[in-house]
Amino acid sequence: MRLFKVKLLLEGRYIFMYEMKQEYKIGIEQIDEQHKKLFELADRAYVLLKDEFAIDKYDKIVEILDELKDYTIFHFKSEEEYMESIGYKRLFTQKIEHAKFIESLENVDYKHIDVDQDESLVKILNFLNDWLTEHILKTDKLIGQ
Ligand SMILES: [Fe+2]
Repeated sequence: MRLFKVKLLLEGRYIFMYEMKQEYKIGIEQIDEQHKKLFELADRAYVLLKDEFAIDKYDKIVEILDELKDYTIFHFKSEEEYMESIGYKRLFTQKIEHAKFIESLENVDYKHIDVDQDESLVKILNFLNDWLTEHILKTDKLIGQ
């Protein structure tokens, strides 16, 4: 996680934020731009998790989740189309990993969010951490090679 978090001094205290560093770029502009959006979503989830003044985070969590779901479907389709266009050999592996990410998003129990809102945000962050560190760095990186 520390790989893509930077410390910022804000109002006298340090906060972390998610930032897409050079090492996450796979070298294909269209895909890199889309991955950037994931970091933005992770950052929003993180800021919300750390917001001690928000009493009810439910609506914002649902908003992030809905956006994440729509974006994920759009991004994977776009990434797969690109791989098809270049006759990419590892397309099948990619499709399997993508399907798993979509499946976990579809299985999110919205009723559970209200039981523990911060726990739900941690789950979203864990999901994104997996994606960012495992999938992008290990699987997507190969597309640009
Ligand atoms: Fe991918």
